[in-house]
Amino acid sequence: MEKNQTRKRIDYVLISVCYGGIGLKTYTNADVTTLDYKNINELEKRFGSSFYVVNVDKLRENYKKIYNAFSSRYEDVVIGYSYKTNYLPYLCKELSKLGAYAEVVSRLEYDLALKLGENPKKIVFNGPLKTREDIHFALKNESIINLDSIYEVGYVKEYASNNPEKQIKIGIRLNFDISQNGFSPLQEGYEVSRFGVCVENGDLLKVLNTFMRVNNIFVVGLHGHFSTRDRNVETYRKITQKLCHIAKENIIETLEYIDIGGGFYGELPKVFNKSVPSFDEYAEAICNIMHSEFHNSPKKPTLILEPGNAMVANTFSFIAKVIENKTIRNQNFVLVDGSVHNIKPTMHKLNLPMRIVRKHEEVNESKSFNIVGYTCMEKDYLAHEVHANLPEINDYIIFENVGAYTIVFNPPFIKERPSIIVADQNNFFIVRKKETVKQFFNEEIYIF
Ligand SMILES: Cc1ncc(COP(=O)(O)O)c(C=O)c1O
Repeated sequence: MEKNQTRKRIDYVLISVCYGGIGLKTYTNADVTTLDYKNINELEKRFGSSFYVVNVDKLRENYKKIYNAFSSRYEDVVIGYSYKTNYLPYLCKELSKLGAYAEVVSRLEYDLALKLGENPKKIVFNGPLKTREDIHFALKNESIINLDSIYEVGYVKEYASNNPEKQIKIGIRLNFDISQNGFSPLQEGYEVSRFGVCVENGDLLKVLNTFMRVNNIFVVGLHGHFSTRDRNVETYRKITQKLCHIAKENIIETLEYIDIGGGFYGELPKVFNKSVPSFDEYAEAICNIMHSEFHNSPKKPTLILEPGNAMVANTFSFIAKVIENKTIRNQNFVLVDGSVHNIKPTMHKLNLPMRIVRKHEEVNESKSFNIVGYTCMEKDYLAHEVHANLPEINDYIIFENVGAYTIVFNPPFIKERPSIIVADQNNFFIVRKKETVKQFFNEEIYIF
């Protein structure tokens, strides 16, 4: 935000109302970065103050980039979109239309996928807690299931013994050491991941032997998702290599898929000032190993990937209105009708890429200010020490790159959740309405 930057003016005419949406005549690109004050003001009047805008074109572009990076290097690729990252129904459906499978980690997400019309055979059911009913239901539906713990083995055996005429296919999430030079790359600095079945202590062999003794159970897949700090290519080489070796040694006759999980970097905004691997670099590393490990196999296994963050982070923006400007001693605070929960539920201190959309030309001098939210928490900072012309009351601030782990982590705290608007071509339409007090205190679950 340059001091004397002249604001881009976009003539604005409301021309159409369709499917509850509005179209902007001169607005030919659904890129939220080109919205001007009048555009946003009109959207606010229709959809309520403070809202998310989803850029569907960006979503389609992300899917294609990820899919093409892998499918141009390996013949059989499945992208299982990680629902937990952002299970906005409209977004999940859009990805399904493009060909994505649904990667779910709870019965709630599984049921959502079914509700959206997903083919159960295109649901990848992961997660550390699946009940007996969940597993039996998913087996009946022939979904792809990756067991996370030994307690689930009994449920699979029970289903197999009750259905002797069926061939039961199952996958296992593995846990093995992925440290490099004695250093653990896991998030938060954990030495050991808590997920999956341990390879090193013999648990995996026990599970495989148990299933081997049951005629109609076949272990067809191995899964290895690890959430790492640096998301670097070397880690994926290690994971892929290990999964392939274990598969070749133990289940080559029945092997149908290798699932590398998610955790990839997407395209990072410039403000983060960080160079990250491209989808091509990840794909090159993973696919090369898949080719060399299975070059003798008559049919190579399907390669499953489960991107979340990389698929959706840059598809959402959050627009909040400036309510107040105050100076307390020597510090400036800009209060907006949003909260850190809307944009950074983990409350990290990094400022997201943002843009101030002003009603009037910039007249103030550049200052340092904090952008703070509506909750009563001292730490409700949407941005720290921003250096720019101080925004005025009723200006808007657009926070970008807020699509991953935001709406799914937005707690029912103090204020209703905001609406979500989709921008597609030059149309804007609502896909989640602003919550009302009645929905916030749902009478079906609260006793008054
Ligand atoms: C099993 C599994 N798959 C995929 C993902 C998606 O990870 P990301 O959003 O980092 O791509 C996660 C996230 O924790 C996960 O646990």
